[in-house]
Amino acid sequence: MTVGSAPADGTAPGAEAAGATADALRVDDLHVAFPTRDGVIRAVAGVSYRIARGRTLGIVGESGSGKSMTALAVLGLVPRPGRILKGTVRVGGDVINGLDERAMSRVRGARVAMIFQEPMTALNPVLTVGAQVAEAWSLHRRADTGKAREAALALLARVRIPEPSRRYGDYPHQMSGGMRQRAMIAMPSPDIPKS
Ligand SMILES: Nc1ncnc2c1ncn2[C@@H]1O[C@H](COP(=O)(O)OP(=O)(O)OP(=O)(O)O)[C@@H](O)[C@H]1O
Ligand SMILES: [Mg+2]
Repeated sequence: MTVGSAPADGTAPGAEAAGATADALRVDDLHVAFPTRDGVIRAVAGVSYRIARGRTLGIVGESGSGKSMTALAVLGLVPRPGRILKGTVRVGGDVINGLDERAMSRVRGARVAMIFQEPMTALNPVLTVGAQVAEAWSLHRRADTGKAREAALALLARVRIPEPSRRYGDYPHQMSGGMRQRAMIAMPSPDIPKS
């Protein structure tokens, strides 16, 4: 994907400052390539964008233009033999590309998450949705089961799953597509804001 020299900018007008107001996500001159027998496929060719905290950036482009690869690269999940040739990914001002797998896994658990397009395959069909949300919540914390259940119920409510305490025990196939997708959104969420 080539977004050209002018970066797509999700920054709020006037939200320009260093430190505490560092962009939630900033990508600079990202290049991703796949070596193949027929030569190198340049999947992402010089993409730059910034997203300020609380802002949303939509990326639109034709099929095969590199939208998914640019997102996967942010999480260090470019599939082999593809790799990032060049570029910088910053989360809250910290450079995260080039971290080792352990450090990247911590970033993925706590700071950046991806909601994939296939919520049915992303959820385990033989475990209840509630248990999966609770497990995801527990993964990056030390907490007992009761606390995890309580947190999972709050997360299900927060993503507008109706009657969370009843729905907690639903298996993925018992929920609507939208509910499953929202359950996925609940899963990697960091702490629930106190608001
Ligand atoms: N394993 C691979 N080997 C070689 N090329 C690949 C591989 N995976 C992806 N590509 C190429 O990388 C380019 C970018 O793919 P990407 O999946 O990012 O496109 P996209 O913009 O998300 O498309 P869509 O809108 O169809 O989802 C495509 O040209 C694709 O063919
Ligand atoms: Mg895609």
